[in-house]
Amino acid sequence: MTLSGRTIILVISGGIAAYKSLDLIRRLRERGAVVRPVLTKAGEAFVTPLSVGALAGGKVFGDLFDRDDEHDVGHIRLAREADLVLVAPASADLMAKAAGGFAPDLATAILLATRAPVLLAPAMNPAMWSNPATQRNVARLRDDGVRFVGPARGEMAESGEAGLGRMSEPLGIVAAVEAILGDAAPRGPLAGVRMLVTAGPTHEPLDPVRYIANRSSGKQGFAIATAAAAAGASVTLVSGPVGLPDPRGVTVVRIETAAEMLAAAEAALPADVAVMAAAVADWRAAAPQDRKIKKGAGGAPQLDLVPNPDILATIARHGTLRPALVIGFAAETDDLLANARAKLAAKGADWIVANDVSPAGGVMGGDYNTVHLVTASGVESWPKSGKDEVAARLVGRIAETLSDRRTAAE
Ligand code: C5P
Repeated sequence: MTLSGRTIILVISGGIAAYKSLDLIRRLRERGAVVRPVLTKAGEAFVTPLSVGALAGGKVFGDLFDRDDEHDVGHIRLAREADLVLVAPASADLMAKAAGGFAPDLATAILLATRAPVLLAPAMNPAMWSNPATQRNVARLRDDGVRFVGPARGEMAESGEAGLGRMSEPLGIVAAVEAILGDAAPRGPLAGVRMLVTAGPTHEPLDPVRYIANRSSGKQGFAIATAAAAAGASVTLVSGPVGLPDPRGVTVVRIETAAEMLAAAEAALPADVAVMAAAVADWRAAAPQDRKIKKGAGGAPQLDLVPNPDILATIARHGTLRPALVIGFAAETDDLLANARAKLAAKGADWIVANDVSPAGGVMGGDYNTVHLVTASGVESWPKSGKDEVAARLVGRIAETLSDRRTAAE
């Protein structure tokens, strides 16, 4: 099955050709694809959610703010899960919105949020297709990397109308999908591996302007996410506030507090590997104030702190959703290895990457790391190296371990 395990979001926009999308769903599923249909309001005028859902074998998405969805950022989640976003039929109106970056509904929001390849199968009256406005939008979309299949030449639904504008036949669209996903199939030692990485500090508000934080730069976590994506993994990086750009090919979820980091990390499960490189604040204010705390005459305020959830320990003890390999970090200034071993047990992690953050080392915020890999079977000490090298070495060890386990299971 050529599309086995591939998730395709199929957006059905308005147009008489929408009836062909029902056959398209069947053809994609026959090839092993998981089809997640999104029906626009205009699309609903041509096919019903019931028939689309029955053929797709699941939920039909329609509303940007779907209150039944467990996550209020449903479009981001949908966009993230897709290997391809296919729009068939793609109406002139939908293409105009996509070309302009407008996102008034779920379909267009997905087009804006996705990093997966986008394939459009236009369908419209020949006059609309050849209109300079439509052609401008097509050119712009092509420039943005969007791909097209069709339109084809032939009779239109309106009698007596013929020309360029018919939607490509379902099998032609399937062939275009196969060509793209064949090319885009991740390669590398971590191909097919889903990885969760946490990075950066968390900010715990005291009031609207002040917060508790730490000096973590996020560099190590970002380097790990980058190296894992380059090795073919599908990576979700949950990061606290840092000044680093999104790594290429990585799904980045930016959060502020530890509670948000935990929620985003859990939302990224299931994952095969979790690497928790974030420097999570250990405490947060028991009751952050809605208004700025005044300096006043009463002296300094008493800060009432409560412990934050331990994200690493929570993920490592997650029952059925526990990733097969859970890796934590330990930044210590004293008794590095003893503390790392204790952390391995206390947190339920498989490995701890221990680094010496005594001020002399310049690790916090710097580019270098001196690292020891602590596992149940012993300690491996790595030479002082750049954070990118540490990341590459760690990703290499992860790939080796997963491959050994696969071999052992065979
Ligand atoms: O206990 P300590 O903060 O030294 O543990 C460090 C490890 O635990 C790191 O991997 C860090 O990302 C993770 N951690 C976490 N949630 C916390 C505290 C630490 O995930 N609240």
